[in-house]
Amino acid sequence: MNMNLFETKIGILGAGAIGQLIGFQLHQAGAHLNFIHKYDYSCDEVVNFTDLDRNEHQYQIRALTASDPLVKRLKLIIVCVKAYHVVDAIKGIEPFIAKDCHIVLLHNGLGPHLEISQYLKANQGLSLGTTSQGATRDFKWSVTRTGKGLTQLGHCIGQPLNADLKQLLLAAIPNSEWTDEILPSLWYKLAVNSVINPLTAINSCKNGSLAHQDYSNTIQDIISELMLVAEHEKLPIERTLVHDRVHEVIKLTQNNYSSMHQDIAHQRQTEIDYINGYLVKLAHKHQIHIPTNKKLLDSIRLLSQQRQ
Ligand code: PAF
Repeated sequence: MNMNLFETKIGILGAGAIGQLIGFQLHQAGAHLNFIHKYDYSCDEVVNFTDLDRNEHQYQIRALTASDPLVKRLKLIIVCVKAYHVVDAIKGIEPFIAKDCHIVLLHNGLGPHLEISQYLKANQGLSLGTTSQGATRDFKWSVTRTGKGLTQLGHCIGQPLNADLKQLLLAAIPNSEWTDEILPSLWYKLAVNSVINPLTAINSCKNGSLAHQDYSNTIQDIISELMLVAEHEKLPIERTLVHDRVHEVIKLTQNNYSSMHQDIAHQRQTEIDYINGYLVKLAHKHQIHIPTNKKLLDSIRLLSQQRQ
């Protein structure tokens, strides 16, 4: 690997659980790392990280305001904000980033990538990713890793990610892979989120409860409708693999509360518009009916309103 790479600066936008987890993994791999935050000043921060063996680590990073001249030197920015913040986050940094900066989006759900292309310059590029690693944020700059899981990344539009940076990312993130076809991988994760997130939020239960017989018809219906939309979108995904993936994640994360369950419980905005809402939007485009997903979308929107 090109040794100058460690001089190559990488930025993380979004210091939530996943942002800080990936940040720690890149820091451990020797990357020169900065976070970009929403405040109008730059400052040094001490970040705490607890690994799966309960070992505690501390390291220092610089949190940059978007207009800090250091932002222009970033060659790669990994965007780890919630789906509903992605477009505004990109618009906010776009005037300040290098003309050849590469962007990676890592969030639950789908949709924002379709809007991002208009903000990319000729030498910039966009990759997408999904991670099943688990982490929880204990307080602002403190995160605990809670689970292992696959991370998949792949090219979406514009210039491809530089080979050395790609190698650094894959070396830093355990159990990560680069895939030539990232959209089908994101659809498998979309299926997992379309089932687990709304059902656990509506029924106020842990992910593992969905293994109960009572949920099997609804889960089948959500998956059948997703398969119908995927067919119209000409996405090569397989029903048996979707079904197996959903049930595997229910089992692997049986003791977790899903992110949407937590969002509803803490009266935060949910990502429903980018999960079941994304499917409903595509179904509308193709003039097909997906009543189960539509009902889940409506129920979560109603729950959010009631909790306000
Ligand atoms: O959003 C979540 O909570 C997670 O993506 C998943 C995989 C459903 C586990 O809880």
